[in-house]
Amino acid sequence: MSNETAKILIVDDEEIALHNLKHVLKKEGYDVTASQSGQRALQLLEEHNFDLVLTDLKMEKVGGMQILKRVRELYPDIEVIMITGYATVDSAIEAMKAGAYHYIAKPYKLDEARKIVREALEKIGLKRENSRLRESLKVFQGEARLVTNNPGMKKLLAMASQVAASDSNIVICGESGTGKELLARFVHACSNRRNGPLISVNCGAFQEELLANELFGHEKGAFTGAMEAKKGLVEMADGGTLFLDEITEISLAMQVKLLRVIQEKEVMHLGGVAPIQVNVRFLAATNRNLAEEVKQGHFRQDLFYRINVVALNIPPLAERKDDLPLLIQYFIKKYGALMNKEVSNIDPEVVDILLRYDFPGNVRELENIIERGVALASGDTIEVGHLPEDLRGTCFQTFRRKSGTIPSLADQERAYIEWVLKEQGDNKSLAAQALGIDRVSLWRKIKKYEVEG
Ligand SMILES: Nc1ncnc2c1ncn2[C@@H]1O[C@H](COP(=O)(O)OP(=O)(O)OP(=O)(O)O)[C@@H](O)[C@H]1O
Ligand SMILES: [Mg+2]
Repeated sequence: MSNETAKILIVDDEEIALHNLKHVLKKEGYDVTASQSGQRALQLLEEHNFDLVLTDLKMEKVGGMQILKRVRELYPDIEVIMITGYATVDSAIEAMKAGAYHYIAKPYKLDEARKIVREALEKIGLKRENSRLRESLKVFQGEARLVTNNPGMKKLLAMASQVAASDSNIVICGESGTGKELLARFVHACSNRRNGPLISVNCGAFQEELLANELFGHEKGAFTGAMEAKKGLVEMADGGTLFLDEITEISLAMQVKLLRVIQEKEVMHLGGVAPIQVNVRFLAATNRNLAEEVKQGHFRQDLFYRINVVALNIPPLAERKDDLPLLIQYFIKKYGALMNKEVSNIDPEVVDILLRYDFPGNVRELENIIERGVALASGDTIEVGHLPEDLRGTCFQTFRRKSGTIPSLADQERAYIEWVLKEQGDNKSLAAQALGIDRVSLWRKIKKYEVEG
């Protein structure tokens, strides 16, 4: 924290002491406000933003302890230094216990006060920097709860936790919404770096120059507008994991730079001259086929080998429908708790519909569907009416994209007729009308497909 900007409030009812302290601190370049009464100090705290408060302990009406308590309650960012008299060592200890940063015993040397103030401001600066970083970056917290019942997924998780312990770089592949980011968290949580940072950067979200700036940081004056030096994400992930999401989105030129960082384990600020050592584990994710991208010349082979030491492929949800019941229950619980609703059941017909659905948006789509269901449910059960309309109406639309069998037209027609019949309460006239065919045609189809009516 720089001296110019530090705002200090000093409170002392002894005019001369107040004046001297103010004078010394002002000379240091701080922005100093002085108050001769505790009461006025409380008011000033409300009106201005201070970084540090120095207050005398013993004052008429509002004393130092009261100011300290108020600051601790309302302004957690402000540090307090208590100025105490000789006879009140106990109160000094009490003040420290109540959260004062330090105390200065009267009579004190101005030099001593100067030193303690400087240290306090340094500490405040560090604290702020840390919390700012935590907020502006996505530093993951909490456990990585990856729910699965599927044997293939369980194998994948076992493999993930095994390679997590090594320092190998990993690429996580999977369609959108399959849980790549969640798996990245899982890997970090299983690794020896779990107490270090996990920093995520979406490579697709930045233009090339911005991405370089984000990843590598810059020196003061590296470009117009670079008023301050800035650390890059690679540096911030030091001792932890850097998760490069949508890795295929970075340009070939950036790939070269990234390769150098991974190989040399050092990073250079934009406009910097000295490389900075970093100890980072790289995880990358993509919803494309990375090997194919290499073949097409969109992704450098050398970088591919560097990051793809281990590949973890998450199958689409449509290929692990056995995960549906567990995931549904998990999301019902999650959103029930979040929305404070007593939803605990789901109509079996809803599950039926979901089991037949294709989930192009994978787990994220399922999660959204359940979230919506919980929000709409008026009782304790998610019903068909709580599903999005297109899902309700198109439950027959279960086109499979990947492995498994693609249903024939006849299969689809049969499923559709069954569904429409059920919808119309087995009334064949109404069903035929809805299908836009006459009763005889419907009857023929029912016979052909052996639909039970
Ligand atoms: N196995 C799982 N158990 C519990 N929640 C899951 C699971 N898989 C995915 N999710 C949830 O689904 C949502 C999407 O997951 P995530 O963001 O990890 O997917 P992604 O593959 O990174 O998607 P995208 O490619 O769109 O970035 C998240 O809310 C995540 O918590
Ligand atoms: Mg993602």
